[in-house]
Amino acid sequence: MTTSNVPFDQRPEDGNGGRIVPMRLQKYLARAGVASRRASENLMTAGRVTVNGEVVCELGAKVDPLVDEVAVDGATVRLADGPHTIMLNKPAGVITTMKAQSDARIVAELVPTDRYPGLYPIGRLDADTTGLLLFSTDGELGNGLLHPSHHVPKTYVARVKGAPSRRALESLRHGVVLDDGPTQPAEVETSKRDPSCVRLTIHEGRYHQVKRMLEAVGHPVISLHRESFGPLTLGSLKPGEWRELDSGEVAALRGSI
Ligand code: URA
Repeated sequence: MTTSNVPFDQRPEDGNGGRIVPMRLQKYLARAGVASRRASENLMTAGRVTVNGEVVCELGAKVDPLVDEVAVDGATVRLADGPHTIMLNKPAGVITTMKAQSDARIVAELVPTDRYPGLYPIGRLDADTTGLLLFSTDGELGNGLLHPSHHVPKTYVARVKGAPSRRALESLRHGVVLDDGPTQPAEVETSKRDPSCVRLTIHEGRYHQVKRMLEAVGHPVISLHRESFGPLTLGSLKPGEWRELDSGEVAALRGSI
């Protein structure tokens, strides 16, 4: 029996990036690994799904995973335990979005949304930027990592036009003025062998920030790659590949917040 006063089919929509709050019954079934959302709807309309012992056929019905008991053909169905967090080595030409808006390739096609429904990207990389992009079903972790007050470091390697002078590098270190305000201090180095290659660690996450910073000192970006996010680096992950973080890595991420 539900402990909530509000009937499960009259609770608000889940608009929380897949976190465990009242959610549509077919989403619950898919997330629990019973079947795809569409196939779960078929189970519902066939009268095979019960919530707290009552058959539920309406596709708009919602359940609260913390209190409602869901069963299919009489067998109780539970959500997998624990949230999931993965890293992707994003290739160039892929848009950071979970919803297709055109024929363009999107990151949702590269990560295991069937296995871990509710995965969403933690921040974004531009379509032409490559490298480390995190995804999680844990909204709290994502919000913590993105919150500006937490200053989680992100390291990028940029190939730029020309070779930045010492003065340009100093400006980047101290902060450059962009149209949405000055940037915070950053760590910056160039390769002695290749002075048009700049490694830059920023502690903010503003729109097109790295490209705008380098443009502001007269060195437009030709290509951009993110090699680390907080304590994590890509390691041997190849472009287009993803892997799930282990509990130590998730703990380290939490520790960086
Ligand atoms: N800064 C940028 O300009 N682009 C990115 O994709 C990430 C950081």
